[in-house]
Amino acid sequence: MRVFQIEGEWGTQNLRLSERPEPEAGPGQVIMQMRMASLNARDLIVPERGYGRATGELPLIPVSDGVGEVVAIGDGVTRVAVGDRVCPAYFQNWTGGDPSPERFASALGGPLDGVMAERVCLSQEGVVRVPDYLTDAEAATLPCAALTAWSAVATHGQTRAGDRLLIQGTGGVALFALAFAKLHGAHVTVISSSDDKLARVREMGADETISYSETEDWARASRAITADRGGYDNIIELGGAQTLPLSLRAVRPGGTLSMIGVLSGLTVEASLGLIVARQVRLQGITVGHRDGFEAMLAAMAQHEVRPVIGETFAFDELHSALDHLRAGGHFGKTVIGF
Ligand SMILES: NC(=O)c1ccc[n+]([C@@H]2O[C@H](COP(=O)([O-])OP(=O)(O)OC[C@H]3O[C@@H](n4cnc5c(N)ncnc54)[C@H](OP(=O)(O)O)[C@@H]3O)[C@@H](O)[C@H]2O)c1
Repeated sequence: MRVFQIEGEWGTQNLRLSERPEPEAGPGQVIMQMRMASLNARDLIVPERGYGRATGELPLIPVSDGVGEVVAIGDGVTRVAVGDRVCPAYFQNWTGGDPSPERFASALGGPLDGVMAERVCLSQEGVVRVPDYLTDAEAATLPCAALTAWSAVATHGQTRAGDRLLIQGTGGVALFALAFAKLHGAHVTVISSSDDKLARVREMGADETISYSETEDWARASRAITADRGGYDNIIELGGAQTLPLSLRAVRPGGTLSMIGVLSGLTVEASLGLIVARQVRLQGITVGHRDGFEAMLAAMAQHEVRPVIGETFAFDELHSALDHLRAGGHFGKTVIGF
């Protein structure tokens, strides 16, 4: 079968169309015929071995997110049946409870082989049935970006109606966070570098928007929005180095910083005094577990939440799809059809 894999040496230039033997389902395993995949920021990092040893070994099939149809099952499989439409769980071994090194070492698309293969063999514990109302493209976007946003807004954030949330940017995680925050009845501020994208998030329900290219000190600019409580209840922190110092000023006493992304850099100089004096909760988010995925799907199906789809590429256009993501102009998820 056809696969994309990083082979020989690490580097995006060594990500090549290749062949692997057909997988066979052993006991407890399922074979998914892939229909669509979807890209995340991490898919630009993995080919460069950006997570060090945790990135895995070569050859490696990249990309964690997708949807497929179950075409074969091994002995003892009861969670799904042939014909079911399923998504892989991002962490194959984290079904619920606390994270652990072993659970974190089970991410698809690095260190485990991912979904850029015509057929994928996974444990039945590592797949989740998807609701009928979602198209294949929509379902393909859910395992990483959507679940990360759900973990920040619902699982850890425990968002309540009337909470004030701030979301950074309009990327994949950000747009899901907006949808889930509105689902919970929150008041949402989105910051973006693009006026066009801010107009689009207002159409999606954002209550306030701030251009961070025009208003660099968005922490100050947001004071009036949260004047009744002295800052945001939860900030979906995706920027990292450039945004964390501002987030520490914009979060309310007792509020939460949901630490997810490091789009502008990994290391930061910021006032730790603000964390102590304001009793800020720094909540790292690492995607989430399968129980969270299933809870998210139930909430999405109840309210027919629709993921935002950007550009669609064909399977053999993976490099163009990655270039498109790297260019940063996208709005909505970049998806790949098989
Ligand atoms: N911890 C986890 O479990 C987890 C899971 C998924 C992703 N992530 C991380 O989360 C981040 C976002 O991932 P993604 O897949 O959503 O990426 P993405 O779709 O590529 O998002 C890119 C968008 O982020 C915004 N952005 C970039 N720099 C920014 C800054 N300095 N301040 C505010 N916004 C900024 C931009 O929005 P505008 O164009 O609107 O300005 C840009 O379009 C990445 O760092 C990724 O590695 C972490």
